[in-house]
Amino acid sequence: MTGTRPTSSDPMQSLEALQLHLESVLESVPDAMIIIGEDSRILQFSRAARDLFGYKTEDIIGQPVSILMTGHDARHHHQYMQHYHDTGEARIIGVGRVVTARRADGTEFPIDLKIGEAKIGGRSIYTGFLRDLSEKQQSELRMREMQAELVHFSRLSAVGTMASALAHELNQPLTAIANYLEAGRDLLDTPDAHTLPMVSEALDEAAKQSVRAGQIVRKLRDFVSRGEIAKRAVALAPLLEDAVSLARIGTNSENVKVRFVFDESVNRVSADPIQVQQVVINLLRNAFEALSGKEGAMAEVRALPGPEPHLVAVEVCDNGPGIEPEIAAQLFKPFTSTKTTGMGLGLSICQTIIEAHGGTIYAKATEAGGTCFCFTLPRAEQESEDD
Ligand SMILES: Nc1ncnc2c1ncn2[C@@H]1O[C@H](COP(=O)(O)OP(=O)(O)OP(=O)(O)O)[C@@H](O)[C@H]1O
Ligand SMILES: [Mg+2]
Repeated sequence: MTGTRPTSSDPMQSLEALQLHLESVLESVPDAMIIIGEDSRILQFSRAARDLFGYKTEDIIGQPVSILMTGHDARHHHQYMQHYHDTGEARIIGVGRVVTARRADGTEFPIDLKIGEAKIGGRSIYTGFLRDLSEKQQSELRMREMQAELVHFSRLSAVGTMASALAHELNQPLTAIANYLEAGRDLLDTPDAHTLPMVSEALDEAAKQSVRAGQIVRKLRDFVSRGEIAKRAVALAPLLEDAVSLARIGTNSENVKVRFVFDESVNRVSADPIQVQQVVINLLRNAFEALSGKEGAMAEVRALPGPEPHLVAVEVCDNGPGIEPEIAAQLFKPFTSTKTTGMGLGLSICQTIIEAHGGTIYAKATEAGGTCFCFTLPRAEQESEDD
């Protein structure tokens, strides 16, 4: 009969229609989308994913998804999937994370990755949704999203706001001090039994206001160094790798290759992970800034045994121009900067955080003239480990 649609009655044709539909979704979905099977091999790669990674369909279909990953993630992907199959315990599926991805040409960039799982005919299919965070606009969006999670990090990124808050808050007691002192001076023009107690009161008030100014400065120091630290046993390698992904956000670091060197004897440290990440982010941002526009730019993040058995050492090195000799002596002092847009706060915050952890931080020049920042952290006691 005319008027019946053949697709609905013919299973082969409806399958074909479904396939076409899926393809059209994959061709038009604005986010990069990657579908992988249980064996972690790529089944589908959307057009946006091809554009993002620079792969042709024929080169990427059937490849293990780990070729799109870097460092720790690439090495441990298989193990992670195995763990998930065995225990059902997910670390990224259904959660979402900022990770570093690798393009076909080897360049690395930060992405926001969310993975969904669907069970079809007893088998799992995973779909990854990826957003390129190296695009400035998107990174700003993500920055706002991350504010809750990394409050401290975003506070620092808003260093300009902090400076104006400092100026504003300090202005009040300073104005009050000036007013009280001026009033006192005016009263002393006609000193008598009546005015003298008022002068004394004005001086008292001025003294109180200067104590208040001191408290504001202290409060602001706590604000950047977050005062208390919440130490726990944390695995160092993933923490450092996440820091690299976060440090790349909003910076022009695509020209910089980041290598990791993790000594096998280094595992967990006793630290506040957000604060240690903050340190590594500050150091990496400095490295990226020093390497801006350089060809063959390299940064290296190392986790090594420390100078004493209870310590580990972390190094963040670059092959940039090195530290300018004029500022070398006061590198860690606040407001030391050679940058037009720099506040000169990054390293002083790093020092406060590391010393609060019982570690030390220093800079040294590399043989090639670049810079290495080295800091130590206490190893975690075996008993108090958590994940
Ligand atoms: N990896 C590096 N290579 C060369 N110079 C560096 C490096 N790291 C830091 N410096 C120098 O040390 C100075 C102080 O660094 P710091 O991170 O404290 O402040 P900043 O980067 O200038 O500003 P902020 O971090 O507050 O935005 C920098 O201005 C720069 O001159
Ligand atoms: Mg800095």
